[in-house]
Amino acid sequence: MAAHHAPTMAVPTDAQLIQAQADLWRHSLCYFTPMALRCAVQLGIPTAIHRLGGTASLSDLVAALSLPPSKTPYLSRIMRLLVTSGVMASHEEGVYSLLPLSYLLVDGISIDGEASQVAIVLAATSRHYLEAALGLSDWFKKDVAPPLPAPFEDVHGATILEESMALLDPESDKVIHEAVAAHDNMGIGTILRECHDLFKGLESLTDCCGGDGTTARAIVQAFPHIKCHVLDLPKVIERAPRGDGSVNYVAGDLFHSIPAAQAVMLKDKYWKPNC
Ligand SMILES: C[S@@+](CC[C@H](N)C(=O)[O-])C[C@H]1O[C@@H](n2cnc3c(N)ncnc32)[C@H](O)[C@@H]1O
Repeated sequence: MAAHHAPTMAVPTDAQLIQAQADLWRHSLCYFTPMALRCAVQLGIPTAIHRLGGTASLSDLVAALSLPPSKTPYLSRIMRLLVTSGVMASHEEGVYSLLPLSYLLVDGISIDGEASQVAIVLAATSRHYLEAALGLSDWFKKDVAPPLPAPFEDVHGATILEESMALLDPESDKVIHEAVAAHDNMGIGTILRECHDLFKGLESLTDCCGGDGTTARAIVQAFPHIKCHVLDLPKVIERAPRGDGSVNYVAGDLFHSIPAAQAVMLKDKYWKPNC
């Protein structure tokens, strides 16, 4: 019979227990940060601060956002949370300014094209994402035969970015696609400036999972001699803006066929586990 080992952890000290309890509160409540961020985006706080010249007091914000003055103390709490979490800056009590992060949440801002990342916040903090996270322990307990549905699919019976999601909730599906496009559309200007040599000598390129083709169009604009294909799922290619016809759109599945080219680009920061 295996020897029974006594637990090895010593009883925490009083100081450790007090710290642990504080940390427990922090971990249990830290979801307020993304909720405050969502609230700020939905109220239009970054856009209001930008329109007020980059700095705004609480009363400026209450007036600009047409909020009831009775909510001023509560807005102050949200702003304090946004400041401590690094979303906004405050160099003077009750006066707020934008940081690069909150600048990305200003309506209509452009850095090498449309740069607002509002859709990412709205998608990532949406009811569907939160419900999937709340179902995590149930998901672990279920013993199902492979292929295992991801927790999102298990709870909603639909998969992000696929037709099933559009059928479940067309509005959320739209926001998720906007979030992917917002993610995709930012950064290519920097890549083209900083990694210019990567594209030198290239005559053809396939942007695999290239979404609406914004990245490929930027590459062709910088290097007009490169023949660029954009491969994505049919429902994404159907919606893609055709523009000036500078890139060739191909509807398909990368696991079946990839348009031939000298180089294939796979650019993604959050690849789905089932891809
Ligand atoms: C997270 S996104 C964006 C990737 C984008 N290149 C970027 O840099 O952000 C993934 C893209 O992959 C596409 N996709 C998913 N599965 C695919 C498949 N089997 N074949 C082709 N495209 C696929 C989706 O439609 C979506 O546009």
